[in-house]
Amino acid sequence: MTAWLEELDWQQTPMGELTLRRRLEPVVGYDIYEVKLGDEYLMSSLFTLAEEELARLGLDAAAGTGLNVLVGGLGLGYTAVTALDDPRVASMTVVDALPAVLDWHERLLLPVSSRLVGDPRTKLVVGDFFAWMRGEPGEPFDAILLDVDHSPRHQLNPAHADLYTVEGLQRLAAHLKRDGVFAMWSDDPPDDEFLGDLERVFGGVRAQVVRFDNPLTGGVSSNTVYVAQ
Ligand SMILES: C[S@@+](CC[C@H](N)C(=O)[O-])C[C@H]1O[C@@H](n2cnc3c(N)ncnc32)[C@H](O)[C@@H]1O
Repeated sequence: MTAWLEELDWQQTPMGELTLRRRLEPVVGYDIYEVKLGDEYLMSSLFTLAEEELARLGLDAAAGTGLNVLVGGLGLGYTAVTALDDPRVASMTVVDALPAVLDWHERLLLPVSSRLVGDPRTKLVVGDFFAWMRGEPGEPFDAILLDVDHSPRHQLNPAHADLYTVEGLQRLAAHLKRDGVFAMWSDDPPDDEFLGDLERVFGGVRAQVVRFDNPLTGGVSSNTVYVAQ
């Protein structure tokens, strides 16, 4: 018999106490995986459609084959494994600031972990995505898929804020090939001001609202995926 709740890992991090747990969600009748930072819920496997759409919409916009992809924020791994579903992806680097998150996948604790770490195209790196974007560009990427903050206005850490400015987006664009794609997940509805900043840096920009059933509320919830090229 499955336990109703199992704490799979607990680690002290510079951002607070990080807990990974598996819990039987009575509303849906199956196990979900949740991550808490202190008392705050950071991630849940209950809703993953928009995280997956981030990879699909971003890579749909990318031209050619042999794609070199950077994913910012590993989390439960749904964006990253969905990117691997695209056979045009030749290499994928996933950067996450928390070693604990990479460790969960390396220990195969999460539903998508074996697909992710077992794929030779995957490279997992501990690091700060925002510091990377401020640094000197290396080998350029065909696509950068970002899901770290709640939205361009609500960041996990004030140190991330400089990315969501014209100058920050210009620095990010320098890490892309000329026709490369920047796609980003947001918990908020499309933000006109942020779209305007994206338009000042990229040639084509759109905000796609992704709707999904929410069994907890009985209604429909939505996230936004920005795609800029
Ligand atoms: C919402 S989760 C990503 C969810 C992911 N898209 C998925 O499909 O499960 C955000 C991730 O960003 C990571 N993170 C937080 N700050 C970061 C930073 N400065 N650089 C890179 N990753 C960061 C967190 O540790 C967390 O794993």
